[in-house]
Amino acid sequence: MLVFVPPHPLIKHWVSVLRNEETPCPIFRNAMAELGRLLIYEASRDWLPTITGEIQSPMGVASIEFIDPREPVAVVPILRAGLALVEHASSILPSMLTYHLGVSRNEETLQPTVYLNKLPDTFPDGSRVLVVDPMLATGGTIVAALNLLKERGVSSKKIKVISAVAAPPALQKLSENFPGLHVYTGTIDPTVNEKGFIIPGLGDAGDRSFG
Ligand code: PRP
Repeated sequence: MLVFVPPHPLIKHWVSVLRNEETPCPIFRNAMAELGRLLIYEASRDWLPTITGEIQSPMGVASIEFIDPREPVAVVPILRAGLALVEHASSILPSMLTYHLGVSRNEETLQPTVYLNKLPDTFPDGSRVLVVDPMLATGGTIVAALNLLKERGVSSKKIKVISAVAAPPALQKLSENFPGLHVYTGTIDPTVNEKGFIIPGLGDAGDRSFG
């Protein structure tokens, strides 16, 4: 597994806005959306298939390279907080298909429950899949989501995870269970407390995005 923290000043900027406890809900949500756009841009580098050829410009023959619209790209936002991080994804991936997954974590046991599953029974051949969840804390939620993709035949080599903040317990579980996976995150924080919150993190991303 590879974990990328793209060294871009805008990514640091938006993570800092998210961390500030005084950032109000609409600005928090917008910061999450901007961070998502930048991380998805980085993740799509060398990942999106292209078609090459030649075309006649008004001044001569030019080599061309387009994104291949026939190659399926799926995005799986994990509700609720993933909705904020994925909000601008379509500006980077115009032909993406979106499959919503609702997962909530029990506040005491920290075990995830899937309450909404809009994944298809099978994905189109060759699908590339982005799974989007701002917080990778204990890792229970993201592992449950990736297991649902595995059951549907999607190889972890075809999956990229996009998150705002990742913590060691989640990264450990992912590397043990999903070889070949790529994770793009705004930052890696050192610990998860006994209530399942990333420290220092940014609080409850779902509540801070949607109230
Ligand atoms: C939070 C967060 C992740 C999950 C991470 O979701 O948005 O989905 O917990 O925790 P884990 O790695 O320990 O499983 P929550 O269950 O609070 O739902 P919400 O997005 O609806 O607020």
